[in-house]
Amino acid sequence: MLKIVVMGTGYVGLVSGTCFAELGHDVVCVDKDKSKIDGLKLGTKVPIFEKDLDDLIKSNKSRGRLDFAVDISGVINNSDIVIIAVGTPLDAKGRTNFDYINQCVSEIVAHAKRDLHVIIKSTVPVGTCDSLQKRFNQESSYSIDVISNPEFLREGEAVQDFLLPDRVVIGSDLEDREVIDELYKELSDRGVEILYTNRVTAELIKYASNSFLAAKVAFINEIADLSERLGGDIEDVSHGMGLDKRIGRKFLNAGPGFGGSCFPKDTKALINTGDDHGVDLPLVRAISLSNEMRHKHIVQRIKKLVQSNDEISVLGLTYKAGTDDVRCSPAINVVRELCAQGFKVKVHDPKGIPKAKQELGDSVSYYDDLYEAVNETSVCVVATEWDDYKNLNPEKLANCMKKSNIYDLRKVINKEAFMKSGFKVMVVGYKSE
Ligand code: UDX
Repeated sequence: MLKIVVMGTGYVGLVSGTCFAELGHDVVCVDKDKSKIDGLKLGTKVPIFEKDLDDLIKSNKSRGRLDFAVDISGVINNSDIVIIAVGTPLDAKGRTNFDYINQCVSEIVAHAKRDLHVIIKSTVPVGTCDSLQKRFNQESSYSIDVISNPEFLREGEAVQDFLLPDRVVIGSDLEDREVIDELYKELSDRGVEILYTNRVTAELIKYASNSFLAAKVAFINEIADLSERLGGDIEDVSHGMGLDKRIGRKFLNAGPGFGGSCFPKDTKALINTGDDHGVDLPLVRAISLSNEMRHKHIVQRIKKLVQSNDEISVLGLTYKAGTDDVRCSPAINVVRELCAQGFKVKVHDPKGIPKAKQELGDSVSYYDDLYEAVNETSVCVVATEWDDYKNLNPEKLANCMKKSNIYDLRKVINKEAFMKSGFKVMVVGYKSE
C-alpha cells in the first residue's frame, strides 16, 4: 500500500485518486477550490458527473482510504507519491498553458522535506516531464524523480477505463521500478501490461494515440460527407471497414465532429511540438482543420430545410453522451454558427445545460423538456447521442413542430418511423430522402 497525494480534482485527478484508493492505496486528493473540497469532504457534491464515481468515493472515504484537502502542506511529507493531475488548457494562441503545472511544482519544492516520486498524469507537451525533472534537480535538495504516466480514460467511462485499461504507460529514468510496480500491482495482477519507457516516449504515446483516434473520427466524417452525396450507407461503410482487424470497428462512428477537452487540444499541441522542433506534421494538421470546418458543413445542410426566420431546436449540447462536459463540443459549435447566421435556437440536454449556459449565455432558449424545446421549430437537430433521443415520438414531435424536419447527427433516431410520420429526415452519412 502506498500513500498518495493527487493534485487536481478534475476528471483525471478525482477519478485517478478514487481508483487508486479502490486499488488499496491511501489517497488524499488536493484542490485549491475550497468549495469543491468541502463538497467532497461532506459528501454533498461530486464536482464531475461520472458513472460509479459517487459510490466509489463514498465507499473509499468510509474505509478511510480517501480524503480531501485544499493544500499539500499538511500531507506531502507522509506520502510516497505526488500525482499532478491539473489542467493544461490551450491559451488564446493555441499554445499549452503551464500555469497550473508550474504552480504544483513550486508547491512541491516549497513543502517537500523528503525524497519523492512525482507522477505527471496531466497531458503535457512532449519534453515537459524532462524539463520538470531538471527544475526539481535545480530547486529541491531532495531526490524527486519525475515519472510520466499519461491517462487514457474517456469521460463517461472514466472509472471503467481506469480500473481496466488497455495498458499503463510509464515514462521514467528510474532504475528501481518497485514503487510503480506497487502502485499498479492490482492492475498488472489482472493482466494489464505496464509499458516502461522514457519520459519523452511516454508523452509521445499519449499525443500519438489521441491524434490517431481523432484521425479515425475525422476520416469517417469525411467519408460520411461523400456517402451523403453518393447515396452510400455510412454504417455499412464503418462496419465493412472495421471487419478488417487492422482497422478495427471503434472510433468509426460518423457524427458532428470530435470535441472534448482532449482530442482538439492534443492534436493542436502535437502540431505545436512539430513546429517547435522543425518537423512538419501535415496529416495531424489536416485532422484538426477537417474537424474545425465540420459544423459549417452541418449548418449548410440545416439551411436547406428552413427559411431565415425559422426557429431551430438542437437536442444535445455535450460533446458526447454520458458526460456533462461541453468543452469544444461540436453541438455548441453548431448552435453558435446558427446564432451567428441569425437563427433563433432552442436547446435541450439532459445533463449539459448548466455548463452550456456558461458558453452560450442568453443567446439561446434552454428547456428541461425536450418537447418544449422543439415546440414551434422548423427543424430538430439531434446533436448528441443521449438515450433521451433514441426513442423520440415522431407523432408527438410533429404535433409540436412548425415543420416536420429532423437532422440526426448521431444516427440514433428511428428513421423509418419518422418518415412514416411525414418527416423529412436527414441523417449524417446518408443522402437526404
Ligand atoms: C478521449 C480519448 O478516447 C481518451 O483515451 C483520452 O484519455 C481523452 O480523450 P474523451 O475525449 O473522453 O476521450 O472521449 P471519446 O469517447 O474518445 O470521444 C472523443 C470525441 O470523439 C467525442 O466528441 C465523440 O463524440 C467523438 N467520437 C468518438 C465520434 O464522433 N465518433 C466515434 O466513433 C468516437
